Amino acid sequence: MPDYRERFHIPRAADGGECVYLCGHSLGLQPRSVRAYIEQELKDWELLGVVGHYRARHPWIPYNKLLTEQTARLVGAKPLEVVTMNSLTVNLHLMMVSFYRPTRQRYRIVVEEHAFPSDQYAVKSQAQFHGFDPAASVETVAGEDELEELLDREGDSIALVLMGGVNYSSGRAFDMARVARAGHAHGCLVGFDLAHAAGNLVLKLHEWGADFAVWCTYKYLNGGPGCIAGCFVHERHARREDLPRLAGWWGHDPETRFRMEPDFHATPGAEGWQVSNPPIVALAALRASMDLFDEAGMEWLRARSVDLTGYLESLLDRHADRGFSIVTPRDPERRGAQLSIRVAGPVRAVWERLAAAGVVCDWREPDILRVAPAPLYNTVEDIDRFADRFVAALG
Ligand SMILES: Cc1ncc(COP(=O)(O)O)c(C=O)c1O
Repeated sequence: MPDYRERFHIPRAADGGECVYLCGHSLGLQPRSVRAYIEQELKDWELLGVVGHYRARHPWIPYNKLLTEQTARLVGAKPLEVVTMNSLTVNLHLMMVSFYRPTRQRYRIVVEEHAFPSDQYAVKSQAQFHGFDPAASVETVAGEDELEELLDREGDSIALVLMGGVNYSSGRAFDMARVARAGHAHGCLVGFDLAHAAGNLVLKLHEWGADFAVWCTYKYLNGGPGCIAGCFVHERHARREDLPRLAGWWGHDPETRFRMEPDFHATPGAEGWQVSNPPIVALAALRASMDLFDEAGMEWLRARSVDLTGYLESLLDRHADRGFSIVTPRDPERRGAQLSIRVAGPVRAVWERLAAAGVVCDWREPDILRVAPAPLYNTVEDIDRFADRFVAALG
């Protein structure tokens, strides 16, 4: 097995040793190669100034193209269908401007139960923006069965189905092919928030037929805090001129962009949704990690992830009498790397004891501890250490 762990910086615990880092679902670790990727751009900026847009080793104007093929492979898309731009919630809004087109009859948005708050705020504010009562416009469903039942009953009033790939709190992975099929069968548009799925699950967005998807790159994708986000728009929308969009010059056809003419002509595909020119330093950081993903391949990473998470589950099950439960589905097909553990009593106290013992994981109100072995850098030893320290931290 190639040792990808040694290609990452592992944060140190108070005793100077490597900590047990199981928080890739929140912020991935720094690839050792990031510095060189960023320094190349700093050097080109230092030596070339504005000329770097054309003459940098990797010219900045088409720089985002360096990520296109890899991103497409990562999410199972065609190159035309993906772009890196902005941040996740911003991309979600941009997508809804185009793909949430409510009418008096069909105006509701369905999201998964306990969707990440930013998504809830985004969908409610979009409904309100279009003049609808947000409280009456957003429905939640626990999963695929409930979604299909709701669509069978009231599908005519639903404009958009927006589900997570993996729920941030429970760690439950949704069957995205089934969600897309169900939504489309009832005339809805279907989008996914892949914040917890990108770099975690094998994705086939083109085949599944999602209309759009958005994701961040700072979790499993190790792009660094606040790094630039990803966006997918299905090929069927690539050349649609009837869709409204919030346009900016970077979405304009690059062949004629610098003629600086007043009328907007969209670049075909996802790139046509770009607004501003992208932050090169963030793209450089992301390239370092995406090169590792490409080298390892998602199929291999996912197989390793299933093993690691299954091993974590088996160690925790040995202590099933200690007053905690795993809320993440037991079926590996219905989860990614993360296990969410419901603890009895104050979760914060358990988390603090773990932190003092050199374990980095996180917690979500009211009682969930989230733990994720990231297959690029976590090992069986990390999981052994976590299990011992977790049981001790339960008190
Ligand atoms: C599922 C999900 N959606 C949206 C967001 C918000 O991301 P951003 O701050 O990059 O817009 C997050 C952040 O953790 C998330 O986990």
